[in-house]
Amino acid sequence: MTDLQDQLHRPLRDLRISVTDRCNFRCRYCMPAEVFGPDYAFLPSDKILNFDEIERLVKIFVSLGVKKIRITGGEPLLRRDLPELIARINHIDGVEDIALTTNGSLLKKYAQPLAKAGLSRVSISLDSLNDERFFEMNGHRGKVLTVLEGIEKAAEAGLQVKINMVVQKGKNDQDIVTMAQFFKEKQHILRFIEYMDVGNSNGWRLDDVVSKKDIIEQIHSFSPIQPVAPNYKGEVATRYQYQDAQGEIGVISSVTDSFCSTCSRARLSAEGTLYTCLFATEGTDLRDLLRSGQNDAAIMDCITTVWTKRNDRYSDERNEQTMAKRKHAKIEMSHIGG
Ligand code: GTP
Ligand code: 5AD
Ligand code: SF4
Ligand code: SF4
Repeated sequence: MTDLQDQLHRPLRDLRISVTDRCNFRCRYCMPAEVFGPDYAFLPSDKILNFDEIERLVKIFVSLGVKKIRITGGEPLLRRDLPELIARINHIDGVEDIALTTNGSLLKKYAQPLAKAGLSRVSISLDSLNDERFFEMNGHRGKVLTVLEGIEKAAEAGLQVKINMVVQKGKNDQDIVTMAQFFKEKQHILRFIEYMDVGNSNGWRLDDVVSKKDIIEQIHSFSPIQPVAPNYKGEVATRYQYQDAQGEIGVISSVTDSFCSTCSRARLSAEGTLYTCLFATEGTDLRDLLRSGQNDAAIMDCITTVWTKRNDRYSDERNEQTMAKRKHAKIEMSHIGG
């Protein structure tokens, strides 16, 4: 196996695959309804990689060092027969971990088949336990109860569950402690995510960010916590354990900290474009290589070249100048995958 390294000596270990750019929610921080309205031009199905193409690419990526696969979207469970794709990926030698990021709305139906197909872990987004606030944040699409049922089904199916809460000032920061309390009792890992300046359509302002420091202070006064070591090099969440119980929480401080120095993640969009950063402005079309009859060696060469040249460190560089420069060019999160 070739062990690739980029310009900052970072290996290629994780591949995040977006299987669709569509979503049944319209979270304001990701796909605001006024931008992603009824006339929005989502990718037509013939432009989206089929399962044969994804499977072939995963094999190639694994031969270049990838060990972890995460399936994302949009909402990945809108992609028909997703368990079949999981099963195919699970059969590839060298894949050590398959995870899914979902809004949970369809998990009640799919948790069992996904687990059976070989999925190990699921990250479920839930921003509030208050129906009104949740509804407001997801563009009036999803109910708290539906997501909670999905979470329970996932746990019953034996999937390792993490809950992701994006915290936005004035929108759901009053729910930080309530969420912590609820998931402490349920013994699910809850991760608070600082609201990020990803894409171009969410109207992000630094003032809307609740910092990791503030989040930790709130949790600590509800129930004392202490930091614990990361599970693996490059983990994006900082972990904290409750002092009086087994449970843990995580904070993903994508705005106030940077984890670029250990970032080993590549991203593949639903249409088969390879991106080397969540904040990328452009990517490399792999679909064209697949569909123009190139052999595996040629595709491997292309990925090798891209990764070897990679020098992305957006969070590190986040400052007024780069923000102004990139303002209109970033790729939407629903397109590139979380
Ligand atoms: P595990 O640690 O494997 O459980 O996964 P994860 O935390 O990488 O996965 P998840 O999809 O749950 O990530 C949670 C959130 O962290 C994402 O939705 C993003 O908001 C953020 N995030 C993940 N990867 C990156 C990254 O490479 N850069 C930045 N800036 N944020 C990231
Ligand atoms: N900032 C932080 N997290 C975001 N997510 C989507 N958009 C943003 C943003 N602007 C999160 C979702 C989900 C994951 C895919 O990314 O809530 O947990
Ligand atoms: Fe859909 Fe997730 Fe984006 Fe919300 S954050 S609109 S659930 S893809
Ligand atoms: Fe990786 Fe880009 Fe996120 Fe830095 S900003 S951690 S390089 S995805």
